[in-house]
Amino acid sequence: MTGTDQTCHRLEGRIAVVTAAGQGIGRAVAERFIAEGAVVHASDLNGALMDDLAGAASVAALDATDHVAVLAYFAQFPQIDTLCHGVGYVHHGTIEQCSPADWRRTMSITLDSAYYVLGAGIPAMKEHGGSVITIASLASSIKGYPFRAAYGAAKAGVIGLTKAIAADYIKENIRANAVCPGTTDSPSLRERIDALAVKMGSAEDAYNFFISRQASGRFGTTAEIAALCAFLASDDGSFMNGQAINIDGGITI
Ligand SMILES: NC(=O)c1ccc[n+]([C@@H]2O[C@H](COP(=O)([O-])OP(=O)(O)OC[C@H]3O[C@@H](n4cnc5c(N)ncnc54)[C@H](O)[C@@H]3O)[C@@H](O)[C@H]2O)c1
Repeated sequence: MTGTDQTCHRLEGRIAVVTAAGQGIGRAVAERFIAEGAVVHASDLNGALMDDLAGAASVAALDATDHVAVLAYFAQFPQIDTLCHGVGYVHHGTIEQCSPADWRRTMSITLDSAYYVLGAGIPAMKEHGGSVITIASLASSIKGYPFRAAYGAAKAGVIGLTKAIAADYIKENIRANAVCPGTTDSPSLRERIDALAVKMGSAEDAYNFFISRQASGRFGTTAEIAALCAFLASDDGSFMNGQAINIDGGITI
C-alpha cells in the first residue's frame, strides 16, 4: 500500500489554502485536506485543471509569480489555518548550462512565488496561529543532484525562507515546515521521463534510468507526500516546527 487511510478528520472546519493544486503533489494535498474535513481554497496557474475539484473546494486560477494577483487573491481570507505552497519549476542543467534567463525563471517560479504567497498568507494566520507547509525538495540544501544547479539553489532558498518564518512567528503559534520529497510520480515527472526517452530512444530505458536512482526501487506517490502534509497541518504535527523533512523512500538513509 502506498497511500494512507483518509478516514480521519483532523482538519474539520479549518481553512486551508493550497497552491499548485491543479495536478501532482499540490492536487493530492488539496484532496487529502478535503478528505480530512478542511475548507479548501485551491489555486493553480491553469485553472481548468481544477474543474473537477470545484464543489469540493473553492478553485481559482492564480499565477503565483504575479505579486499583485497573489495579494489580491489572499485579500479574501481574514483567517487561514493552513497554507501549503508547492509551486516549483525544474530546470535541467549544470551552472554552465543555466542561462541568466533559466536562472531567473527558476527563481521566479520556485522562490519568488514562495516569498509572495507566504508573505501574503501569514497576516491571516497571526491571530489564531496555523501551519505553513512548503514543498521543497531533496535537491536543495539537503542533497546535490547533477543537472539541478538552479533548481537546487531555489529549493534551498525555499527551505531557508520556511525556517525563517518558523523563527519569526513562533510566538504567534505559526509553525512552518518544508517537505522535501524524493522523486514522486506526478505529471511533470512523467514529462521528464518522456523527454529523456526521446534522448535515449527508448521509453523503457528512460523509465528504468529514473527508477535505478530510487533506493526503494520505486517512486513516491503524491498521496504519500500529501499524508505528510496533512500530518503537519493537523494537531498531530503540533510540535513540528522549522524542519526540512525528507520523504524519499530511503535516499538519504
Ligand atoms: N515530482 C517530484 O518528483 C518532486 C520531487 C521533489 C519536489 N517536487 C516539488 O513538488 C512541487 C509539485 O511538483 P509535482 O511534480 O507534483 O507537480 P507538477 O509539476 O506536475 O505540477 C505543478 C503544478 O503547478 C502549477 N504551476 C506551475 N507554475 C505555476 C505558477 N506560476 N503559479 C501557480 N501554479 C503554477 C502547474 O500548473 C501544475 O498544476 C514542485 O514544487 C516540485 O518542485 C516534486
